[in-house]
Amino acid sequence: MGKDITILFIIVICIVKSTCEIYITETSAISNSTDWIGDYTDIKTKFSVRSAEEPEEDLCYLVPGIKDSVAHCGFNKSRPTFAIIHGWSVSGLFESWIHKLVTALFERVPESNVIVVDWLDRAQLHYPSSAGNTRLVGRDIARLIHWLEVDLKYDLANLHMLGYSLGAHVAGVAGNLTNNKVNRITGLDPAGPLFEYAEHANRLSPGDAKFVDVLHTNIMGSPDLSIGIQRPVGHVDIYPNGGTAQPGCSLQDTLQMMKNFGMYHFDQLLKCSHERSVHLFIDSLVNQQQQSMAYRCSSKDAFNRGLCLSCRKNRCNNLGYGINKIRTTRSNKMYLKTGATMPYKVFHYQMKFHVFNQQNLTLNEQPIKVSLFGTHGEKEDVQLVLSSVSSNTTSSFLLTTDVDLGELLRVRLRWDSDSYFSFFNPNKFLVRRMRVKAGETQSKVVFKAESYREFANLVQGGDPVTFTKSKEARNSRTHKRTHRLKIHGSSFKGLNVASAGM
Ligand SMILES: *[C@@H]1O[C@H](CO)[C@@H](O)[C@H](O)[C@H]1NC(C)=O
Ligand SMILES: *[C@@H]1O[C@H](CO)[C@@H](O)[C@H](O)[C@H]1NC(C)=O
Ligand SMILES: *[C@@H]1O[C@H](CO)[C@@H](O)[C@H](O)[C@H]1NC(C)=O
Ligand SMILES: *[C@@H]1O[C@H](CO)[C@@H](O)[C@H](O)[C@H]1NC(C)=O
Ligand SMILES: *[C@@H]1O[C@H](CO)[C@@H](O)[C@H](O)[C@H]1NC(C)=O
Repeated sequence: MGKDITILFIIVICIVKSTCEIYITETSAISNSTDWIGDYTDIKTKFSVRSAEEPEEDLCYLVPGIKDSVAHCGFNKSRPTFAIIHGWSVSGLFESWIHKLVTALFERVPESNVIVVDWLDRAQLHYPSSAGNTRLVGRDIARLIHWLEVDLKYDLANLHMLGYSLGAHVAGVAGNLTNNKVNRITGLDPAGPLFEYAEHANRLSPGDAKFVDVLHTNIMGSPDLSIGIQRPVGHVDIYPNGGTAQPGCSLQDTLQMMKNFGMYHFDQLLKCSHERSVHLFIDSLVNQQQQSMAYRCSSKDAFNRGLCLSCRKNRCNNLGYGINKIRTTRSNKMYLKTGATMPYKVFHYQMKFHVFNQQNLTLNEQPIKVSLFGTHGEKEDVQLVLSSVSSNTTSSFLLTTDVDLGELLRVRLRWDSDSYFSFFNPNKFLVRRMRVKAGETQSKVVFKAESYREFANLVQGGDPVTFTKSKEARNSRTHKRTHRLKIHGSSFKGLNVASAGM
C-alpha cells in the first residue's frame, strides 16, 4: 500500500511536467562573492510576523532593509524567534498545519516571535521547478538573517528554523549561506525526490545550524521514489514507526475519513504520513506531560525486536521541541513507536524469554497475545507476531502500550494456533522466566512462571501462561545490598544492616 502512495505522488509530479529527470544543476550560479547577502533589493520571499491572537492572519511583513517594519510588526529583538518554512504547494495556499504550529509555538513560548516564511509563488510550480527554487528562497532567508544580525544586532542563538518537506531544504540552504550559524534547524520530513543524493550545500545537512534535528515520517520504496528523504541529514534523525507509513494513515483510515468528511480529503492519503512529522512536533510543544522518547538503534528490525531501549550514553532522547542537543560526528538514527492520534506517546517494553524443548524445533511467524498488568492499569491481549521461536534460544520482541501501566506486576502470554494442524498436534515449549525492560523508566523486571514446578507450559493454541514479579530476584538484590553493607560496614553512615535489609 505504501508503495502505491509513493508511485501516485511521483505520477502527480510527472503528469504535471514530463521532466522527472531534471536535476538541480544550478549549483555554481551563486557567486563566491558575499556582497549579495547585504543586498536586500530583490528579495521575493515574504516574512509574515504572526501573532498569538490571530495565528492564521498575515497581518504584517518584516522587510529586510526597512527598519520600520520591525516596530510596525511588533518583532521584539530580545525574544526567541521561530521561522516556519512550508513546502511544495499544489494549491498555492497555506496548509492548515501552519496556523496550528504557530499556535502551538506561542502556547509553549509565549514571549517569542513567530515568522511564517511565504514562498508560495515559487512553491506552486511543478515539483522539479519548486525543488530548484529552494536555493533562491534559502538565499532570501539568508539575507533576512544577515539583516537581523548586522542591522538589528539580533542574536542568532535565539533563532530556530522549522522547515517542512521542501522547506527543510530551504532552511538548510539558508543556514549554509549565513556567516554565523543559527541555533537550530528542525527538518520535518525533508523532501526526498531530487534531494536524496544532492550535495550538502543544496539540501539540509548537519553543518547548517549549531543543531539540526530531523523527523522522518514518510520514507518508503527505493530512495529516489521516497517522498521523505531516507538518509540521515541532521545531528539527530528520528524515524517514528520506522519512518515509513504512520499509524492512522492507511488506505482504510483514509477511506473512512472520506466517508465521514467527503471526497476533498483524498489528498490526505498522499500527505498523511508526510505531515505527521509536523503534528508530532506540535504534540511535543503542547503535551509536555506526554513527552515521547526515541532510542538509538542500528536498524528498524533490531528496534522492532526490542533490542534498543537503552538510555545509556545518550542512546535515548526526547522527540521534538524538548530534544537534548546531542551532537555526534556520526549519524544518530533513532526510532520509536507512536499512536495514531495526539498525544502520540506510547510506552515501550522489551520482552525476553528463553524457551526450552527436548526436540529441535524452530517455528517462524508465530501469533501471540500478551497482557500486562501494572499498578496503574492493564493492557490485555496485545496481538503480536514472533518472527522466530526456536528450542533452547531466547526470543525477544517489542511491545507498546498507549497507557501508563505503572510498575508491572504480572505478564500473561498466550500462543495462538496458526493452523488446524497444530490444533491436533500442538507444539510446546517450557518457559521459566520472562524478562521485561521498560524504555520509558529504564526499569528491568524478571517475572517467574506461576506454577508449582519451575516451568510454565506454553502450548500452541493452548491455555495462556502467567508470570509474576519474581520475589527471588528481589530477595537476591536485597541480599547483595546487605552483603555490600557488611563488607563496607561503617562507610554507610546513618544506615544499618537491619533497615537496609527490609
Ligand atoms: C573566492 O573569493 C576569494 C576572496 O574573495 C578568492 O581568494 C577565491 O579565489 C575565490 N574563489 C573562487 C572559486 O572564485
Ligand atoms: C521585548 O521582550 C522582552 C523580553 O520578553 C520584554 O521584557 C520587553 O518588554 C519586550 N519589549 C516590547 C516593546 O514589548
Ligand atoms: C556550506 O556547504 C558547503 C558544502 O557542504 C561547505 O563546504 C561549507 O562549509 C558550508 N558553509 C557553511 C557556512 O556552513
Ligand atoms: C537443530 O537443527 C539445526 C538445523 O536444523 C542443527 O543445525 C542443529 O545442530 C540441531 N541441534 C540439535 C541439538 O539437534
Ligand atoms: C535443550 O536443553 C535441554 C536442557 O539443557 C536439553 O535436555 C535438550 O536436549 C536441549 N534441546 C535441544 C534441541 O538441544
